Amino acid sequence: MDIYRGLAGVNVDTSRICFIDGERGELIYSGYDIRELADKASYEEVVHLLWTGALPTQSELASLRDAIRPSFQLPGGVLDLLASMPKGTHPMAALRTAVSALAAYDDNPDGTDDANVRRIGTALLAQVPAIVAAFQRLQAGNDPVDPSPDLTIAGNFLRMVNGEDPTEAASRVMDVALVLHAEHGSNASTFVARSTASSLTDVYSAITAGIGSLKGPLHGGANYGVMQALESIGTVANVEQYVLDTLGKEGGRVMGFGHRVYRVMDPRAIILKDVSEHLAEESGDSKWFEMSLEMERVMAREMEKKGKQVAPNVDFFSASVYRMLGFEKETYTPIFAVARTSGWMAHLYEQYADNRLMRPRLVYEGEKGKTFVPISERG
Ligand code: SDX
Repeated sequence: MDIYRGLAGVNVDTSRICFIDGERGELIYSGYDIRELADKASYEEVVHLLWTGALPTQSELASLRDAIRPSFQLPGGVLDLLASMPKGTHPMAALRTAVSALAAYDDNPDGTDDANVRRIGTALLAQVPAIVAAFQRLQAGNDPVDPSPDLTIAGNFLRMVNGEDPTEAASRVMDVALVLHAEHGSNASTFVARSTASSLTDVYSAITAGIGSLKGPLHGGANYGVMQALESIGTVANVEQYVLDTLGKEGGRVMGFGHRVYRVMDPRAIILKDVSEHLAEESGDSKWFEMSLEMERVMAREMEKKGKQVAPNVDFFSASVYRMLGFEKETYTPIFAVARTSGWMAHLYEQYADNRLMRPRLVYEGEKGKTFVPISERG
């Protein structure tokens, strides 16, 4: 009886959204190489591509931006919920809870017809960043900041976190990060979202499930783990011993490295490495980039020795990029969720359009034929 633990290598359906070649380190969103999209497309253009299979015309892009804009203003009850959360609440727990609460303020939260699902998805593109930004400010004792009608999702997210309009440069870096984290096939959180939707439950339930999966340290939580490690290491000189100590532990994992599909460096990590280097040069604060380079060097040497194909993944250099953009590490995984909302929704459109309930099996290894003994006789 073949068993595929972790569903490794199992094809559960067909899809037209994303192609990954793990051996060659290639990533394609609906026909376009990720390197070209990161270099030339805005996040909103990529959303349109993932959701329709085509890059938008000028007027289609304007229509998408117009449709998104009103939803940056969250329902008052959701803002009150975020404000009521104790200091130190995990930002992904806050996001998971607030997205789930959005259903209570939606006139048609349960409709799974294509038009209603796309309506909810379009609103979530603005609501998720608005929730992440509002929660961070409330936890710091500050009031949430209103969006600007003139800014993009990336720009408004930075404005709503920092309380001022971002520079063009920072907005562009945020856009690239959102493009790179938007979509990645049947990763754990996207699979969970599709599997949840396959019972024909509502979008909010499926996206809440995806957020819950992304929170985990083996998935979206890894970018937090990378910065936690870099902060604990402190200097470039201490990186090597940290890596050796970590690899020396049973099951030890260095966060930001390895991938279920990529056998070479994640193409997104290659792009983010350049972004991190550029930000380090611009800011004059190269500590985090230099430490990341050293960790990459030591891991490459150690994995070579072990004959393992473990290379930096998307979470590794994103940590230093987000640090140099001024984010606290607690916000790194929520930023991943901001971006991946577009990918999750693209997959929900596919799932609802041609659904089959997902129900794999487990091979039973327990006992059979046991005789029932009444509790009075069980001692
Ligand atoms: C994301 O799937 C996606 O597409 C996800 C993602 C997306 O865009 O949605 O790309 C985003 O989640 C990236 C991954 C972020 N996670 C981390 O950085 C956490 C650290 N990485 C590992 O936990 C691990 O690499 C996984 C979870 C990512 C993949 O796990 P697998 O495929 O189950 O592989 P494995 O854990 O069985 O490792 C295979 C071998 C092992 O050696 P053996 O035990 O067989 O001797 O590689 C080694 C591991 O020891 N290895 C590592 C390692 N990752 C794998 N060794 C040290 N450090 C690591 N990080």
